[in-house]
Formats: sequence, structure tokens, C-alpha cells
Amino acid sequence: MEFVLTAEQKDLIARIQRLKEEKQAVILCHNYQRPEIYEVADFIGDSLELCRKAQTTRARMIVFSGVYFMAESAAILNPSMKVVIPAKDAGCALSDMITPEALRRKKYEYPDAAVVCYVNSTAAVKAESDVCCTSSNAVDVVRSVPHKRVLFVPDKNLANFVAKQVPEKEIIPWDGFCPIHQRLSADYLLRAKQLHPNAKIIAHPECTDDVREIADYVVSTSGMMKVAKESEATEFICTTECGMIQRMKREMPEKKFYTVCSVCFDMKKNTLENIEEALISEQHEIIIPEPVRIKAYRAFERMFEISSPKKQIFVAV
Ligand code: 13P
Ligand code: SF4
Repeated sequence: MEFVLTAEQKDLIARIQRLKEEKQAVILCHNYQRPEIYEVADFIGDSLELCRKAQTTRARMIVFSGVYFMAESAAILNPSMKVVIPAKDAGCALSDMITPEALRRKKYEYPDAAVVCYVNSTAAVKAESDVCCTSSNAVDVVRSVPHKRVLFVPDKNLANFVAKQVPEKEIIPWDGFCPIHQRLSADYLLRAKQLHPNAKIIAHPECTDDVREIADYVVSTSGMMKVAKESEATEFICTTECGMIQRMKREMPEKKFYTVCSVCFDMKKNTLENIEEALISEQHEIIIPEPVRIKAYRAFERMFEISSPKKQIFVAV
């Protein structure tokens, strides 16, 4: 169904635009956010793009429309900036599958391993890691570490995806997963393919092995945009969080998008209403203890030293 703004939403959008100017604020928005939020966003992207934007943004305040670890990443990367998240309980079930204490214990078991930490993790877990990565640069990051062994946390699906492409490393996956991507099944995808035989399948690397194996492309959320824009194909089946195809349909109305998807309710906790509230009250501010922030920053810094924006697409093997 086509997405249409209501009259109330249009009023709210106009008020938010005025408030942004008054407050010298920018709104950074993840691809999975509600489509009406795209209308007030200064930038929409995947985790890596949002990290880069957070680092270079010149404003007084960032209103981060995404989940908590994303807003926290912005605060790690740009400490002089006030970063607020409209819904303070917008968490990430995957990031909650590891604690810094549990990671410290695992590090004792594998003292010779590099710790590569997916960005979907808390600042405290990043602070215990050697280097950070996102879905769009995980392969490059793992390939680049000098260690033979890599303790990859917290997503086992992304770890397995990386392990297949970097066979020279021994990857020890943490037993975490994204429940939203875990429940996307290869059976549903094959049924969708039967209905749309000409469509290319695009999957997120958080999907399980059997889903990734039948995908034509395995890419980050912004990688999905890029693949669909650059491909000569005109039909795509995207398997990831349901919000993704809203952005694809909005920016590529000439192409057809189908989806085998599941909703991340945490991603949907930000609304136009609480964004307006966040701009007025300047709440909820992300505060990270400085010793933790400095260590987490180092993990990001190593990631930026490695990752190049040119290497963002991984074709499924
Ligand atoms: P991306 O970095 O690909 O946008 O992924 C973030 C995420 O949380 C996927 O579930
Ligand atoms: Fe976390 Fe999964 Fe939601 Fe992404 S989709 S924010 S990994 S719970």
C-alpha cells in the first residue's frame, strides 16, 4: 500500500522543521525508522553511514532516530555534541545478548584472539573490544586484523557470514543473534521467489545461513539501496526488517519491491510526537562515563582506519 501523510502528520512535520532550526539540531535516522520520520530527517542511513555522519555533523544537538546503541555510538564519536534519543527504551535485543563481564571471561579463554565487536553492542562491550565493525565492513575488518583467531561478538549469523569469506581466520562466534532476522525463513523466501521468479533476493547479513545461501546479495541496509539502484533488475525481494522497503519504494518508485520481513518494535518506538518532544525538552540525553567512552572510541577509530567507503558491497558466495 502506498504511504500517505495525514494532515496531522504534515502539521507535526512543519513544527519539527521549525524547532530544528531554533535548536540548531539535526535528525539522524536509521533506514528502519517509520516512513513519516524520513520527512524530517537530515540524513537517513545504515549504521556505518550514521557513525560517519555523527562524527562530522556540525550542529548543537543530534536527535537520533534509531535504537539506543546507535545513539550511543554518535555520543562516543562526537563527545562535544549533545545527543538525544526520542524513545529512551528503544533497545536492541541483539546488543543485550552480551555483557562486558561475560566478554571479559571469554577473553581469558582465548587470550590470543582479537575481539571484533559488531556495532550492535553497548559502549561497555565496545570498550572491551579491539575493533568495532558494522554489517557493511565486517569482512574487511576481520581480514585486516593481524591475529589468526578472532572472537566475533555478539552476532553468530554475521560471524558465520564473515567466516565463509575469510577462511584464513579462525572465527569464534558469540552465541547471539537478532531475533527479528533469525525468524526470517528460507521457506518463505523460496515461496516469494516462486511468485516473483525474476526478482533478485537481497538479504541482511544478520539472517541465518540458509537464508543467506539463497540470496543474490547479502548487504547492509544502505547496501540494499545501492544494489537496487545500481542493478539492471527491476524487481527485488528484500529479507530484513519490514521498514526497509518503505525507503526503497520511496526512492525507487520505478522498481518493484517485495519483502519477507519481520518488525523490530524497538525501531518503531521513535515517532514524530516523541521527536517533537525531544527537540523541546532536549531529552533523553545519552551520557557515557568518559573512561568507557575513550576505550569504545578506540575500537571505532581502528574500524575507521580499516574501512573504506568503496568496499561496501559483499556479493553472496
Ligand atoms: P545496518 O547497519 O545494516 O543498517 O544494520 C543495523 C541493524 O540493526 C540491522 O538489524
Ligand atoms: Fe537490533 Fe535486530 Fe532490531 Fe537491528 S533489527 S536493532 S539487530 S533487534
